[in-house]
Amino acid sequence: MNGMRVVLGVCGGIAAYKAAALTSTLVQRGVELDVILTASAERFIAPLTFASLTARPVYGSLWDAPERIPHIRLVREAQAILIAPATANVIAKLAHGIAGDLLTTAVLAARIPIVIAPAMNSAMYEHPATVANLALLRERGYDIVEPERGFLAERESGPGRLASEERLIEALERALRRRNSLAGKRIAITAGPTREAFDPIRFVSNASTGAIGIALAREAALRGAEVVLMLGPTLLEPPAQVTTVRFTTARDLFDAAMRHAVGADWTIATAAVADYRPAETAASKLKKSEGDLLVRFERNPDVLAALGERKGGSKLVGFAAETDDHEANAREKLRNKHLDAIVLNDVRDERGFGLVQSTLTLLWGAGEKREIGTGTKPHLAARLLDALEEVLGCS
Ligand SMILES: Cc1cc2nc3c(=O)[nH]c(=O)nc-3n(C[C@H](O)[C@H](O)[C@H](O)COP(=O)(O)O)c2cc1C
Repeated sequence: MNGMRVVLGVCGGIAAYKAAALTSTLVQRGVELDVILTASAERFIAPLTFASLTARPVYGSLWDAPERIPHIRLVREAQAILIAPATANVIAKLAHGIAGDLLTTAVLAARIPIVIAPAMNSAMYEHPATVANLALLRERGYDIVEPERGFLAERESGPGRLASEERLIEALERALRRRNSLAGKRIAITAGPTREAFDPIRFVSNASTGAIGIALAREAALRGAEVVLMLGPTLLEPPAQVTTVRFTTARDLFDAAMRHAVGADWTIATAAVADYRPAETAASKLKKSEGDLLVRFERNPDVLAALGERKGGSKLVGFAAETDDHEANAREKLRNKHLDAIVLNDVRDERGFGLVQSTLTLLWGAGEKREIGTGTKPHLAARLLDALEEVLGCS
């Protein structure tokens, strides 16, 4: 942490006083802290406390020195943002992109890892609005340090106490490690389903939503990589910080992959590509008739195998969505397609698709294996990139 620059946001809650002790610890560890207090935070603790502890100016308003554009400057100079304590109010504003003061505007302008440590009364924390707002922030890659259970200032007991200083520092260290760990790398990611039409409005597709590929793209960009995301038909939004190339069919994806993935430092192929397509596509909508409809399928190009053949010095990671014989099938794909690693996604009963929790396992080498765990896609994306940085090497 020594020499790192961090923005510490302090909001207007009882736990604001704990931010002073945290500031002191971080300063002793050599962190350069720019503290932003919300207007409400200043009712709980004086800016002077933080100014004295950091020996730096403390920020409270967008308008104190607007010619220096503080909301942009602070987050460009920093390597991470920690908001501790984060109020229900600020969490709601961040979830909805409201930028009404210096702290919320700075966070909206940030492209660095953001750690949020909520602290509030249990009823506020468990309110569906707060739960939904935190889920939204998690989906966007924010690291949420869950509050602890215990005695609350209102003399009630329950979840809502600010996480311990140790957990806050651990989360900040994790955020600082993520930053720039992939700087200078060109990473191509394929994501989402393909659609293979048999008439102008009907197609054969699959249950993939592209969620894991989108989460990986966002996380890789956050770590400093230059990312091209090849994204199939999905309602999910690609991250703003990456170049997105859209595809519909397996053949579109093949062309895009030959252009954007060949020569990339890493390619992570998460797209669920149709192996077969209808041999013919009717020019107009097929009409219902008494008999059955027969559709003949022909083979699509194998995108992953083609990338494996052309991979040169680049690293190629595949995904295996398996319903049976998971590991054996994934290992066979790892070998046959010249992959450097493969991520096993258990999709029995449509598990693992969409914005739900999934369970991933990373396989590589002759018999190497690491459980990435179970969690939301953004959480798994971060854990998976941690593992890939180690397994594929980042030099
Ligand atoms: C005594 C007192 C304690 C409060 N404690 C908290 C708290 O721990 N967490 C929280 O989310 N809001 C708390 N609030 C409510 C916030 O201060 C209020 O929502 C305020 O608008 C937050 O502003 P900010 O989010 O810009 O800092 C408290 C209010 C008072 C009066």
